[in-house]
Amino acid sequence: MENTPSRIIDLRSDTVTQPCQGMREVMARAEVGDDVNGDDPTVAYLEEKMASLLGMEAGLFVPSGTMSNAVAIRTHTQPGDEIIAEEYSHLYVYEGGGYAALSGCSIALVPGNHGLVNPEEVSNRIRKSDGSRSHFPNTSLICLENTSNRGGGTCYSLETLYEIGDIARESDCRMHLDGARLFNAVVASGNRASELVAMFDSVSVCLSKGLGAPVGSVLVGTKPFIEEAHRWRKMLGGGMRQSGILAAAGLYALDHNLDRLKDDHHHARKLAESIQGLHGLHISINTVESNMVYVQTEESADKWKQQLEEQGVLCFALGENTLRLVTHLHIDEEQVEEVVKVFKNLSRK
Ligand SMILES: Cc1ncc(COP(=O)(O)O)c(C=O)c1O
Repeated sequence: MENTPSRIIDLRSDTVTQPCQGMREVMARAEVGDDVNGDDPTVAYLEEKMASLLGMEAGLFVPSGTMSNAVAIRTHTQPGDEIIAEEYSHLYVYEGGGYAALSGCSIALVPGNHGLVNPEEVSNRIRKSDGSRSHFPNTSLICLENTSNRGGGTCYSLETLYEIGDIARESDCRMHLDGARLFNAVVASGNRASELVAMFDSVSVCLSKGLGAPVGSVLVGTKPFIEEAHRWRKMLGGGMRQSGILAAAGLYALDHNLDRLKDDHHHARKLAESIQGLHGLHISINTVESNMVYVQTEESADKWKQQLEEQGVLCFALGENTLRLVTHLHIDEEQVEEVVKVFKNLSRK
């Protein structure tokens, strides 16, 4: 167990991870400059490294995944455009309606199958003003999420991504990926990151989720896209000064915490297989592809959450009958066994 803050087993999210000693040391030693003036070498290196890992031209370091998505949407669209996203996507449910307030866009929601949209449904929602006597807005951006958070950490197949990419090109739409957990999708699917994003115009990757950095996301795309995104980041207040200290943590995360995501996936699988079938609990086991386990509870999820908390296990209730458990770098095999024990005891009550 690395650097676990307390005896509590915290399965609320992979965002609760804290920087380990090695990460703190590289942060303390980081060479920095004023990144608003473009002279922080550590930030520049992180941006280049993420872009090159994803086969893109350029990158932009931003404080959060939410700002990364907001900057991407603003850069790709004009006020009055429409964007397409899955009905429970993070950018629709959890980002304060930023697409509307900051970009002036409407949104067309596509129902998902465990968070994943199908190409035909996407195609059906694309609208263009031309030929509609100005009734329709212009759909100009299709946003996908991989892995899908509310879908249960599920992953897209390359085939589906290419099909949606073809639809986007044929309809003169751009494609943005909320890849907050892109590397979980890489590990779960066995595809390279560059393969999974080849059909996208921009990708946002979070360093502060399963990768274990304290802060930060990187938005990548073409050089002209990133140049324009740089201006929107500025206007949103996301230009940071000696941010090399934060970028150093991101670089450490890329060097040390990518391969180990497979451990988180293994732990999630083990949790799911052990909890499945316990009295009053149901898990759709095929959707457990990465580091999340969604548990359907016959009794109130809030009651389960409270009882688990009394036994030292923290998780989120994401609906009346849904608990979410997320594995991450502070969760080891022994803790997984402990959590299973707690579930078994509570399910017998
Ligand atoms: C899929 C997804 N996208 C974006 C974000 C936003 O990231 P942040 O909390 O850094 O703004 C999250 C946060 O959990 C997420 O799960």
